[in-house]
Amino acid sequence: MTEHNFASAVKKVRDALGPDCPEARAPEVSAVTSPLPGEELTEDDIVALLDTGPQEQQTVFALADKVRKHFMGDAVHLRGIIEFSNYCVRNCLYCGLRRDNRRLLRYRMSIDEVLKVAAKAAAAGYRTIVLQSGDDFHYRADDIARMVEGIKRTAAVAVTLSVGERSRKEYAVMRQAGADRFLLKHETADPDLYRRLHPGMTLEGRLECLAHLRDLGFQVGSGNIIGLPGQTVQTLAKDIMLLRTLDVEMAGIGPFIPHPDTPLASCPPGDLAMSLKALAVARLALPLAHLPATTALATLHPDGRRMGLSCGANVIMPNVTPLEFRRLYEIYPGSIALRAPEDGGIAEIRTMLSSLGRPVSETCGHSPKPEWALPTRVADISAH
Ligand code: 5AD
Repeated sequence: MTEHNFASAVKKVRDALGPDCPEARAPEVSAVTSPLPGEELTEDDIVALLDTGPQEQQTVFALADKVRKHFMGDAVHLRGIIEFSNYCVRNCLYCGLRRDNRRLLRYRMSIDEVLKVAAKAAAAGYRTIVLQSGDDFHYRADDIARMVEGIKRTAAVAVTLSVGERSRKEYAVMRQAGADRFLLKHETADPDLYRRLHPGMTLEGRLECLAHLRDLGFQVGSGNIIGLPGQTVQTLAKDIMLLRTLDVEMAGIGPFIPHPDTPLASCPPGDLAMSLKALAVARLALPLAHLPATTALATLHPDGRRMGLSCGANVIMPNVTPLEFRRLYEIYPGSIALRAPEDGGIAEIRTMLSSLGRPVSETCGHSPKPEWALPTRVADISAH
C-alpha cells in the first residue's frame, strides 16, 4: 500500500514536470504547464514520500533537486540576519529565548546600531536584510518602521521582518515603512501540539497573523520544526499541506535541537534524514517557494547546508549580528552561527557554493511567483 502510494506520488510530480523534465529555468514556457508539480499531491502522498527508507529517499531528493533547478534556478540567495533583541514575552517549550529562561543575559540593540550593522551587511554583498527578534514589545511598530526606513534609505536591499505576533495595525505600520517580507513560522500544524508547546498561544492565532500579513501585501514566510516531541509523519504532512494552503513565498523547515535550559532539554534532536525529506517534499509541494538550508540543519550536521541545497533549498541565511550579541541569541546551543565571522562567512559560503556549481544570486531574490504566473494568465486569456 505504502509502496504504491510512494510510486504514484513520485509519478504525479514527474508527470507534472513534463516528459522531457526540462532543467533550464524558462518561466515563459513552463508556466503554461498546469498543474505545477506538487499541486496534486494529497496528504497521503506526502505521508508516503516522507515515510521512505534510505533508498527511496534518494529518489525524493533527486526529484526535489530537479524541481528546484527548474523553477528557482541554480542561484542561491543570501539573507543576512540581524538578531536585534533576545527579549521574548513568549514561553515556547523548545526555545532558549523563552521568558522563563533566567540564565540568559538579555540584550537589545538600538535603532542606530541596527542601521550600522545593516549598512555593513549591505556593503558586504547581502541583498536582503532580515530583522529578527524575540516577541519584544519594547520596540513599538514605529521603532521597527524606523529601522526598515533607515535601511531602505541607504541600501538597495529587501527587508524581511521576523518579530513575532503583533496586531494587524502594527503589521500595517511596518509594511507601510517598506518592509517587503515577513517570516512567522507556524511551527507545527497540529493544534493540540501547538497549544502544548506554546503556553497561552494557539495555532488559530498564528494563522490569523499570517492572514493579516498576506492581506497587507507582505511576501509571507512560514515553516515548521522537525522532530518535536509528539510529532508524527502525519503531522509533518499536515505542515506541508498547510504551507501549500498558505501559498507561502518562503518556508523555513529545520530540525529541533534541544536546549538545556528549556523543558524539552532531555528530548532527542530532530532526525537528519527526516529533516531533509521534509525539505525535499516541501520543494515538491511548493515549487516556487524560497526554501533555506536552515542554520539548525547545518548545526545538526556539519554538511547540513550542502545537503539542504541538494534537497530542494535555494537560500542561506547567514548571521550578521555583532558577535557580542550573537552568542546571546541562543535559540538552541552550538549554532554554527557562533563559528562564523562578523559578516556571516560570505567567503566560505561562496567557496562551498562554487563546489556545488551554484552561484550567489545578484538579486534581492523576491518571490518568483509573478514571473511564472504572468504567462499563465496570458495563456488563460487567449484560451477564451
Ligand atoms: N530547535 C530548533 N529550532 C528552534 N526554534 C526555536 N527553538 C528551536 C529549537 N530548540 C526555531 C523556531 C523559531 C525560530 C526563530 O527558531 O522555528 O520560529
